[in-house]
Amino acid sequence: MKPGDRLMKHYLQFKDFRAEEYAYLFERTRTIKTRFKNYEKYQPLVDRTLAMIFEKASTRTRVSFEAGMYQMGGSVVHLTTGDSQLGRAEPIEDSARVISRMVDIVMIRTYEQSKLEAFAAHSRVPVINGLTNEYHPCQILADIFTFIEQRGSIQGKVVAWVGDGNNMANTWLQAADILGFTLHVSTPSGYEIDPTMAGVRNPGCLKLFKSPFAACEGAHLVTTDVWTSMGFEAENAARQAAFADWCVDPQMMQLAQKDALFMHCLPAHRGEEVSAEIIDGPQSVVWDEAENRMHVQKALMEYLLIGRIG
Ligand code: CP
Ligand code: NVA
Repeated sequence: MKPGDRLMKHYLQFKDFRAEEYAYLFERTRTIKTRFKNYEKYQPLVDRTLAMIFEKASTRTRVSFEAGMYQMGGSVVHLTTGDSQLGRAEPIEDSARVISRMVDIVMIRTYEQSKLEAFAAHSRVPVINGLTNEYHPCQILADIFTFIEQRGSIQGKVVAWVGDGNNMANTWLQAADILGFTLHVSTPSGYEIDPTMAGVRNPGCLKLFKSPFAACEGAHLVTTDVWTSMGFEAENAARQAAFADWCVDPQMMQLAQKDALFMHCLPAHRGEEVSAEIIDGPQSVVWDEAENRMHVQKALMEYLLIGRIG
């Protein structure tokens, strides 16, 4: 694909796709996952290469993209800041021009969203956000697929976000706006979500709560994340103090719907943002969430590289 090619799409934020594209992707994920579970070979990406660029650590994102690409017949190049010229200040625009002449698709995990956007603006091939300070769209894609698998459509439902107004919270907000559910958010003061960052068109999809208990009332899904995200380690001590009451525990969870699910993008800190009883308990679907990263990203790469099937 070349720049200017009408078919070329990037996936830099959740709001890059419309509701109808998500409906297609979730259906496609179901097919791809079923084939995988039945040991059916499906290799539409033979001779295609994915470059994965990591400027922050990862377990799930690396394994899910790498395993997924190999399963679809393609291959993978893995780069980190430390073992590439990115760590020696080669401009991101130059890196994009070079890397995108040699591979078919790129996944990047980095700090500022603006860096990802600069890469995409100079890339000849589709670029996927594998997490930035601002957004984590592949994770929310997996989370919503997991919700649909377990409970059906998420439209009209209530999702409670407990904790930091971070990249995950921003992405949940974009998803609520596009897919038509309500996001209840409770953060400690000083760590609020910034609705302008998500760029929501329907402000009614966000409800803010001082109390995390109030945010969980009636929720169909309760979700949280670490108190200190990657890149914010210097604030760790202050965050430990500020977030002490934002722990999803049985008292909080029982305010949600009886059959409410618990999700966490992982890695988790038991005893901080979530108690062991909840993350290891019957309402938790965190392992399905993690596995589904691979299935949704296979559907995403197929969509970006080949387009719609059928
Ligand atoms: N949830 C997630 O993105 O995990 P990793 O940091 O391990 O990739
Ligand atoms: N909010 C976390 C998510 C990790 C997958 C972070 O950015 O570190």
